[in-house]
Amino acid sequence: MDWGMENRLAQLIQPDGHCLFMPIDHGYFQGPTRNLEEPGKTLEPLLPYSDAIFVTRGVLRSAIDPRKCKPVILRVSGGTSMVGKDLANEGLTTSMEEALRLNASAVGISIFVGTDYEKESLLNLSRLVDEGERYGIPVMAVTAVGKELEKRDARYLGLCCRIAAELGARVVKTYWCQGFEKVVRGCPVPVVMAGGPQFDSELPVLEFVHDGMQKGAIGVNLGRNVWQNDHPVAMIRAIRAIVHDNASAREAYDLFTRVRDETLVGSHSR
Ligand code: 5RP
Repeated sequence: MDWGMENRLAQLIQPDGHCLFMPIDHGYFQGPTRNLEEPGKTLEPLLPYSDAIFVTRGVLRSAIDPRKCKPVILRVSGGTSMVGKDLANEGLTTSMEEALRLNASAVGISIFVGTDYEKESLLNLSRLVDEGERYGIPVMAVTAVGKELEKRDARYLGLCCRIAAELGARVVKTYWCQGFEKVVRGCPVPVVMAGGPQFDSELPVLEFVHDGMQKGAIGVNLGRNVWQNDHPVAMIRAIRAIVHDNASAREAYDLFTRVRDETLVGSHSR
């Protein structure tokens, strides 16, 4: 592997082989998502616990201080919206030159396997990989399911992850699912887990993160289940304990409640 590629991957994947990415890219198709209306403010308390952020160039330039940032995974696909005809009809929105100018450590793109736009999104990924390899920038492929959340099973996600890896993605982001070990086994590059819409409570999130790590994921790229929680710092610290400190889901939950209670006491005594 060339020096630049290896160096950028090392900025993202920590010496223990694990990573916690913080996605705040949702606005590129969802608009001002709940609790992400002001992404700079949402991110600020979470940044110390994040290994990298996943973000578009617009939010990066307008809301993130370049002197106080973590490595950037630049979202470079888009062009569709929640209210448009088809979320899957994405194109490339940002050039590799722009990614270099923004000092990105990686670029990220969604693929939509099994949709009418399967071929376009996969060829976009291939083109991005060609460019990324030319400049030493890793590509993270995102196995998107759009509004069809029920697609999140091992057979479908395993297919998506393998295709993304075959086309040259250096990292694949997918959803946790039952039988997640099959997804990881069939994917020859590192897999990170997204979270999807917010769960009703914290423990099930910590349980799936723990299960996914045990089954071979290298980390997480979890957004809404962190920053839509009433206690986002407690939540990210709990997830971080699983990813980097090998905590069980129960231990992580205890940490969550401790940090939450300290925050509540602090805010009442002010
Ligand atoms: C949105 C994305 C997000 O980065 C990804 O889905 C992770 O966020 P969440 O945990 O909220 O699902 O790709 O387009």
